[in-house]
Amino acid sequence: MTVQELKTAFVAAYGQEAEAVYFAPGRVNLIGEHTDYNGGSVFPCALSFGTYLLLRKNGGKTVKFRSLNQPEVIELGLEQLTTPLDKVWVNYPLGVFAQFVKRGVEIKEGFDILIWGDVPNGAGLSSSASLEVVTAFALNDQLKTGYNRTVLAQIGQKAEHEFAFVMCGIMDQFAAANGAKDSAIHLNCDTLQFELVPVKLKGVKILISNTHSPHKLDSGAYNQRVSECKKAVEQLNTVRPLKYLAELTEAEFKSIESAITDPVAHKRARHVVGEVQSTSDAVKALKANDLVLFGKLMNPSHVSLRDDYEVTGPELDCMAEEAWKIDGVIGSRMTGGGFGGCTVSLVKDEAIDTFIAKVGAAYEAKIGIKPEFYIAEIGDGACKL
Ligand code: GLA
Repeated sequence: MTVQELKTAFVAAYGQEAEAVYFAPGRVNLIGEHTDYNGGSVFPCALSFGTYLLLRKNGGKTVKFRSLNQPEVIELGLEQLTTPLDKVWVNYPLGVFAQFVKRGVEIKEGFDILIWGDVPNGAGLSSSASLEVVTAFALNDQLKTGYNRTVLAQIGQKAEHEFAFVMCGIMDQFAAANGAKDSAIHLNCDTLQFELVPVKLKGVKILISNTHSPHKLDSGAYNQRVSECKKAVEQLNTVRPLKYLAELTEAEFKSIESAITDPVAHKRARHVVGEVQSTSDAVKALKANDLVLFGKLMNPSHVSLRDDYEVTGPELDCMAEEAWKIDGVIGSRMTGGGFGGCTVSLVKDEAIDTFIAKVGAAYEAKIGIKPEFYIAEIGDGACKL
C-alpha cells in the first residue's frame, strides 16, 4: 500500500485525518546468528519493507489499535497499558507503551493508531521488531521523550521479552532503529558500539528465499538456546571467569571446552564461538571487497547452525543446499532465528533467474511448499514520513 492509501484507510477507520506517519524496517542478517545474546557481533541490514504506523491524539483516555493485517480492533484504557493480553498481535505495540510507562513517562491522552506492514510474517525478517520499533519511534516523537535510537531499540527488545516472552537479543530492534541505506550494521552486542559498512556489491545481489515453512520462531526453542548458552557459560566459569561465550577465541575455547560437561551446551557454545570469529572475518572481507571469502564464510555458518545449534530444519536445509549447487552463488545460509523462515544468499546477477527457477523447483518438489524470493534492497532505519 502507498502512504496515501494508508492515510485514506486511517480516515475510513477513525473519521479524521492522521496527524503523523512513521515507518520502521524489517532486517536481514548477513552473518552472526545467535551471537547477539552471547555478547557477540552481528551484521544485519535494514530492508526497504517494514511497518507503517499512523496516529492521531484522540483527546480521550483510550488507545485504539487497528492493523490492516489483522482482524481485531483493540481499545484499551490508559490504565491498561502495562499488562500483556492473551496472545494477540497487539502485544508488540502494547509492550512498547508499557516500557514508556515503566520508565515513568506519563501518557495523559489517548491515541488512534493504524498499522500496516509488508514484512512477510513469520519469515524471520523481523516483522515484530519493526512493529516494536515503529511504535517506540512514534511514541518518542509524540511524547517528546528524547530517547536516542539505541534506547528505542532496547525498549523494543524489552517489549519482546515481557509481552511476547521471547528472550531475544538486541539485533533485530537495533537494525530497525539504526539501519542505513546501502549499509550493513556491524554491531557489537555487548557494548552496542556499531559501524555502518557500505554494501557495494558489484554484479552481485542479496537474495532472500522464503521457505514459507509453517514453523514460526518458536519462543520455547529459542529461549531454550538462550539457557543452553547460559549453562555453557556457567560450566566454563569453573575454569575461567567469563560473562559471555563471545569473549572466547576459538583457541581459548578449545583449551577449556572440556569444562562444559553437558554435550548439548557444548555444541551450542562451539557454534557461538565459531560464528563470532566468522562474523569478524566476514566484515573484514566485505570491507576488502572480497565477496568470495564472504561467501565461503556463509556456508559453514549454515552448517554450524544446522548441526551444532540445531535451528534449521528440513526446509531451511533444503533451501541452502539447493542454493549451494547453483553456479554463481557465492554463499547461502539461513538468516534470523531459524526454525523456518528465510535464507540469505549472495548471487551473481547473471545467476539470479536460474537460482529462482532451479532452487524454487527443487524446494517445492522436496518440501511441497511454493517458496518466494526477494532481492533485498537495503533501506534506512526508523523515520517519520
Ligand atoms: C531472532 C532474535 C535475535 C537473534 C536472532 C538469531 O531474530 O530476535 O535477537 O538472536 O534470532 O541471530
